[in-house]
Amino acid sequence: MEWAEKEKDRESRKMKIEKKSEGIKFPYSEKVLEHFRNPHNVGKIENPDGKGLEGSPACGDMVAVYIKVEPETKVIEDVKFESYGCASNIATGSVITDLAKGKTLDEAKKITWKQASEELGGLPPIKAHCSVLAVEGLRAAIRDYEEKHGLVTEKEPTTEDVVRRRLKHVMNPLTGLDIIRTNLILKTSVEAGVVRVVVDLPADHQFAPAIKEDIMEKLGALWDVEKVDVVFTA
Ligand code: FES
Repeated sequence: MEWAEKEKDRESRKMKIEKKSEGIKFPYSEKVLEHFRNPHNVGKIENPDGKGLEGSPACGDMVAVYIKVEPETKVIEDVKFESYGCASNIATGSVITDLAKGKTLDEAKKITWKQASEELGGLPPIKAHCSVLAVEGLRAAIRDYEEKHGLVTEKEPTTEDVVRRRLKHVMNPLTGLDIIRTNLILKTSVEAGVVRVVVDLPADHQFAPAIKEDIMEKLGALWDVEKVDVVFTA
């Protein structure tokens, strides 16, 4: 499902919840409900300086976070998020983007899901992973910026495991889930700085160029990768 459709779906879920909510006691604080109904910083930044896409192993939901960074001071000037997640995830995304705006990258990295949960007046324990997902999305966007600007200090060698982990952050537009989970990647290899990725789609498929671009972006920024070859099956 596209983000726009997802947004419509979220709106309709919200309306249904609001309709049913008369007389029902939610396990959420008023603050969570307020941020869910009117989330701050929702949307996409065109040409972001950093972009993170994270999926939750616990529930399969996803969140994307975009940042604009002032190059001298490394202050996050703007931040937005898109969520495929639940009310807790949307509320946390709203709070952490508020917290991150105006902070330096190093300060924003220290924002924790516990801090977000406290800001929201607490979350049910079963919903902790939703908060973690939003925070991971923000951290992924910061890491993306750092990689693109040569600011990464821990230099892990790129292996097939690293490549597959990275590819979990590339969305399969056919399903709205990542390209690893949806078995779109047939093969990966890493040799002498060259990464090869075989995608189970014809080269003239409507989504092939977008998937290729995303793969190149995710792998090309790795410090020891010199070339990325994306190969389609036909
Ligand atoms: Fe998936 Fe909350 S249940 S993000």
